[in-house]
Amino acid sequence: IRLGILGSGKGSNFRAILEAIQAGQIDAEVAIVLSDVPGAGILQYAADAGLRAEEIVEPKFRTRLSPEVEEGLVRTLKDAGVDLVVLAGYMRMVKSTTLDAFPRRVINIHPSLLPKFPGLEAWKQALEAGESVTGCTVHYVDSGMDTGEIIAQESVPVLPDDTAASLHARIQVAEHHLYPAIVKRFADGELP
Ligand code: GRF
Repeated sequence: IRLGILGSGKGSNFRAILEAIQAGQIDAEVAIVLSDVPGAGILQYAADAGLRAEEIVEPKFRTRLSPEVEEGLVRTLKDAGVDLVVLAGYMRMVKSTTLDAFPRRVINIHPSLLPKFPGLEAWKQALEAGESVTGCTVHYVDSGMDTGEIIAQESVPVLPDDTAASLHARIQVAEHHLYPAIVKRFADGELP
């Protein structure tokens, strides 16, 4: 399958997926990497890896894309032959423009055991709620915030001396196992 990666940050999940592809563990190709954040680490890493890496320019909104920009995004993904859209730290809401063009083919990773702690800084939410276990979730994306159908989860313990940073780091280690494993299941045709 051909992957279209969307990210806003440093791109460590993208890296984990790319490394699994390069190691021959996933039968997939990264067709394109797109970011709404100019100069995001994920774009730099993709470009350094020789992949097509492009910026999504959205001057109007911060939490979503303008309809015309999102239509352009869908065209770009389709022209690149993308089969599966992988959100990897993409910090905007995805609208029906994209979801209708890729039915059950847009996935996300979220740093909590959904449906607990949707939204921003989910590891901090778990810490402040006094949870003893949290983790990460890969889910289909729908038009809500972190509400789509759950595909898989991985748990991590919350330790007594955890800070937001130490807990987030532990969750990211789990993310870097879980996300490539799930992308592999799509590549192998095991997920609807
Ligand atoms: C991850 O914690 C992910 O769960 C969340 O955004 C973060 C992205 O990190 N959706 P990275 O850019 O993949 O390093």
